[in-house]
Amino acid sequence: MKSFVAGIVATMIVFTFGAWLYLRLGYADLRANLPPSWLETQLATTALNASVARHAPSEPNPITPTEDNLLDGGRLYRDKCADCHGRPDNPVSDYGASFNPRAPQFMQAYPRLREDQVFYLIKNGVRRSAMPAWSNIMADSEIWQVVTFLDHLNNLPPAVQQELHRPAGSDP
Ligand code: HEC
Repeated sequence: MKSFVAGIVATMIVFTFGAWLYLRLGYADLRANLPPSWLETQLATTALNASVARHAPSEPNPITPTEDNLLDGGRLYRDKCADCHGRPDNPVSDYGASFNPRAPQFMQAYPRLREDQVFYLIKNGVRRSAMPAWSNIMADSEIWQVVTFLDHLNNLPPAVQQELHRPAGSDP
């Protein structure tokens, strides 16, 4: 039994050292324009989903989906997010697709996450990705407006849809 446990420990040490050596000698190719391996994608996706599930505080969305709030959320999205995540007249952003991991294209598919999890992701960003933490740039109430807007993507009043077609930075 003892030698069996020693064998497992030795294998783990060799494996860990091998992985470290692989990285230290520069064999990992970190170019953004190469598709990541299946393993890298699995590890990163699992880690991100699990981290959000564990850390996002469960809290209700304080914003009601009035037209004014959807307009404000839509403008914030158009000005701050659409370059990477797409907008109706540019549903697949080449810029967003140039990152690795790619920016998900919300006009095509919006993630099935709880609103408070989306709030958490927007507020805190995602480390080692192009997704910024917006906590220093937007107030919590503005982040909730964007969350509310995203939650109503399939059901936006015409005024909000029009606003999305106006150039970034257009005044109300
Ligand atoms: C510079 C590009 C960029 C900008 C600007 C940006 N994002 Fe992101 N965003 C990303 C990338 C890249 C990811 C993917 C991160 C990952 O998977 O590790 C991401 C991920 C996300 C996710 C998680 C989606 C999921 O499926 O898990 C949400 C939600 C999100 N962004 C919302 C926003 C909002 C809202 C804004 C504007 C306030 C914004 N992003 C601005 C690049 C960007």
